[in-house]
Amino acid sequence: MSFFSKFFGGLFSQQPLTKALPHHVGIIMDGNGRWANKRGLPRIFGHTKGVDSVRLIVKLAQETGLRYLTLYAFSYENWRRPDEEVSGLLGLIRKHLAQELDELHKNEVCVRIIGERDKLPKDIQKLIQTAEEKTAENTKLTLVIALSYSSRQEIISAAKKLIAQVEKEKMNLEDINEETFSQHLHTHGIPDPDLIIRTSGEKRLSNFLLWQSAYSELYFSPLHWPEFSREEFIRALDFYGSRQRRYGRV
Ligand code: IPE
Ligand code: IPE
Ligand code: MG
Repeated sequence: MSFFSKFFGGLFSQQPLTKALPHHVGIIMDGNGRWANKRGLPRIFGHTKGVDSVRLIVKLAQETGLRYLTLYAFSYENWRRPDEEVSGLLGLIRKHLAQELDELHKNEVCVRIIGERDKLPKDIQKLIQTAEEKTAENTKLTLVIALSYSSRQEIISAAKKLIAQVEKEKMNLEDINEETFSQHLHTHGIPDPDLIIRTSGEKRLSNFLLWQSAYSELYFSPLHWPEFSREEFIRALDFYGSRQRRYGRV
């Protein structure tokens, strides 16, 4: 039995782990549509069921003492899906952003949204602003939700902001480095993810945190997102705990 399995064997302790625990976990929540189709249901049922897994992972993140949890909820490329599916997904996002806010705030969770928010409907933009403002001072867990998110767009936009500053002579070309570049990404102030989990058996990043994942450990789960469980989260943490992170050194 591994360290984590033993630890999580009984009830979760209120004490956060200190040994080889990731500070920041990113999750590519994939497989909702296939989960539903396998059961002869429309894809939206999978997305609705996926919300339960979101609630579970937020709870587990808090119990484990993670500092940052980033959830990939809707990609920039997902705008290409049929209108019906896009509006179904936006409906779930709208409903749950509003519904869960008080509970998240009560639990001292800081909410941040990354992505191309100009493309989102105005009322969702407003909900995002409210959620971010209300929870800005919370320090227990930072919950980052990637919505309308494209890492390539994020990188291009950082490059444009830096170029504009150099043109206005507010910055020297020599001052563009990894640190200043990171400060212009949507994730500014958030440490890079230590562990990225992708569900549904797909082994790709699909435009998620490309810059930030340079040294992340990757865990691919065969489970579809609606079936994600406490046990699978423990397996991912076990996997992480068994990694040796070398960052190019020997
Ligand atoms: C993940 O599930 C949720 C989103 C991308 C919004 P999918 O909708 O991609 O489900 P599959 O991968 O088609 O099964
Ligand atoms: C990635 O899943 C985006 C989210 C989980 C929100 P996709 O289902 O969109 O990715 P691909 O198309 O299989 O790469
Ligand atoms: Mg998918």
